[in-house]
Amino acid sequence: MIAYFFRIGTLYSRKDGVYYMNMDKVVCHCMNITNGMIKDSVEAGAKTLEDVQEQTGATTVCGACLEDVQRLVDFFVSEKGE
Ligand code: FES
Repeated sequence: MIAYFFRIGTLYSRKDGVYYMNMDKVVCHCMNITNGMIKDSVEAGAKTLEDVQEQTGATTVCGACLEDVQRLVDFFVSEKGE
C-alpha cells in the first residue's frame, strides 16, 4: 500500500520509519478538498466515489483529480474494512 501511494506522489511523508498521509494536502483544487475531507466522508458513510462526490463535490468541476480521489476512496474504504 505504501508503494502505491508513493507512486501517486506526496500523499505520504516518512517520519521515524512510519508513513503518514498528509491529511491537509488538497487533492481537489477546484473544490478545495483535502485528503482528510475524503477520509471524513468515508468515515461518515461514503463507500463509493459517487458517495464522496455527493458529500464533498470533489471531482465535479474539471475532473483532473478523479484518479487520485478514487484511489483515496478505495484506500479509506479498505482501511475501514468495508
Ligand atoms: S481538481 Fe478536482 S474537480 Fe478540478
